[in-house]
Amino acid sequence: MFKGLFQRPVRSMPSAVTLKTDGLDMTNIPKHVAIIMDGNGRWAKAQGKARTYGHKAGAETLKTIVRAADTLGIKAITAYAFSTENWKRPVTEVHFIMELLSRYLTSEIEDFKANNVQVRFMGSREGLPAIVNEKMDHAIDETKNDTGIILNLAINYGGQAEILHAVRSIAQQVANGTLNVEDIDAPVFENNLYSKGLPSPDLMIRTGGDLRVSNFLLWQIAYSEIWTTPVYWPDFSPDMLIEAIKVYQSRERRFGGLVQK
Ligand code: FPP
Repeated sequence: MFKGLFQRPVRSMPSAVTLKTDGLDMTNIPKHVAIIMDGNGRWAKAQGKARTYGHKAGAETLKTIVRAADTLGIKAITAYAFSTENWKRPVTEVHFIMELLSRYLTSEIEDFKANNVQVRFMGSREGLPAIVNEKMDHAIDETKNDTGIILNLAINYGGQAEILHAVRSIAQQVANGTLNVEDIDAPVFENNLYSKGLPSPDLMIRTGGDLRVSNFLLWQIAYSEIWTTPVYWPDFSPDMLIEAIKVYQSRERRFGGLVQK
């Protein structure tokens, strides 16, 4: 499918990155960073290229950022690769992104393993091409014992759909008699989300200039610090990640409480 669109194979994960960490507090690195990788299409258009060119460049940027994040000590990255709303895009673009994901999961698997990256996914598997589902299962299986950074890819993901999925699952457990209504609390709810087992993001980054959440991690970002940049995702760099973390470190996180002075 769409073979001609790919002139070259997706490159492998960049090896060691030199990071400018001056001024960064290495004792206060966010554990989990969520990223809305927006602006691929506009980045490509600005160069007179097809939007798909931007997605391909965006996949490269993700590799660079995962590597940098790992070096900085970030424990997990959740990246919004395809939303439940992205199906509304032209069928050629949807096919391209699915093909890109499929190729990415093949071309990167050895690098993930070599770099101890554990791959996870969040989102609905329904409606995804069988080959993408197979590659996702394979990536999970191949990297499940890796103990380094977690790369959690949100694919066919929507925050509202995730909450509905959790509600249905909890309702089913109540109907089965395996859960009492009075035992439903935040930890139980979180155990029924796709993000089960991951802490809430400390920091959410959105590239591309828009100031909205776009149905990403609606439950999980309750107390996440948000940092945005007008820079399009393919131009996002490790230096910008460091800048975002510095801003994060300058924020006072109160989680609704008061900070003792
Ligand atoms: C947002 O840019 C990006 C997407 C909807 C898809 C994200 C996909 C990638 C980064 C590449 C695929 C990822 C992997 C892991 C292979 P946009 O298209 O909304 O850009 P625009 O706002 O400029 O239109």
